[in-house]
Amino acid sequence: MNEATSPKRVALVTGGIGGLGSEICRQLAQAGRQVIAIDLAARDERIAAFRQEMADVAGTVTFEPGDISDFDNCQQLIARIEQQHGGVDILVNAAGITRDASLRKMTPQQWHELMQVNLDGVFNMCRNTIDGMTTRGFGRIVNISSVNGQTGQFGQTNYSAAKAGVHGFSMALARETARKGVTVNTVSPGYCDTPMVAAVAEDVRAQIIAGIPVGRLGSPADIARAVCFLAADDAGYITGANLPVNGGYFMSF
Ligand SMILES: NC(=O)c1ccc[n+]([C@@H]2O[C@H](COP(=O)([O-])OP(=O)(O)OC[C@H]3O[C@@H](n4cnc5c(N)ncnc54)[C@H](O)[C@@H]3O)[C@@H](O)[C@H]2O)c1
Repeated sequence: MNEATSPKRVALVTGGIGGLGSEICRQLAQAGRQVIAIDLAARDERIAAFRQEMADVAGTVTFEPGDISDFDNCQQLIARIEQQHGGVDILVNAAGITRDASLRKMTPQQWHELMQVNLDGVFNMCRNTIDGMTTRGFGRIVNISSVNGQTGQFGQTNYSAAKAGVHGFSMALARETARKGVTVNTVSPGYCDTPMVAAVAEDVRAQIIAGIPVGRLGSPADIARAVCFLAADDAGYITGANLPVNGGYFMSF
């Protein structure tokens, strides 16, 4: 079945109004998906800007407030979406935060806050969508990890642990759901041109770019392209894989 003849798939994108998430929403909508962006209600200015940006997109993108670190909130949100739209076909877990500090200075709060979003959030969303996907016999889950989960990064024991954990989680879930038409993969971006990286000091950013073989930061479009590839109906034989999108910054086999 090609994209044109496939049913209109419902796609949830967590962190949907963020730097990468909003471009993922745009490309999924352009590919004919009915997209629902989930993000924190507190970001009202950004939500308003996002709604304006998406108004021009050929396709449907709506916004639903949700806190992925809260299991009950995810359960209620997904139950409501499933009732309204008949099910969730594609789940992209792109919400994420940083709480950087070297381990000697890291507080338990910095550790736990990060885990609650970057790792528990993936569990909370997958746990509440997986039964619907396996029952209907179709699902595409794409979890956004990071090159820093593959290599480790100074000041990011929490972030690197969570992002490596996201891929372990994805491989395990891929095995559990492979026979049910549900694929589970990770995309690991390198350094991208988003507010998260813009916050890094100018000289450090220049050093990072000098170390990227392609010679530039990744764009949100580069990442969204990989997500759309894995979320396609005809990507059913790719599961448990990690797709690095890092301009050659880290190569492995
Ligand atoms: N930007 C990069 O260079 C880069 C590189 C590698 C990996 N990543 C990963 O890609 C993903 C997206 O990053 P980004 O650059 O778009 O960051 P971003 O900060 O622009 O977007 C992240 C979004 O997640 C949302 N969010 C945070 N906590 C949430 C919660 N509890 N519930 C719901 N939403 C919540 C934020 O409001 C924000 O909109 C993250 O998982 C990040 O770790 C980013």
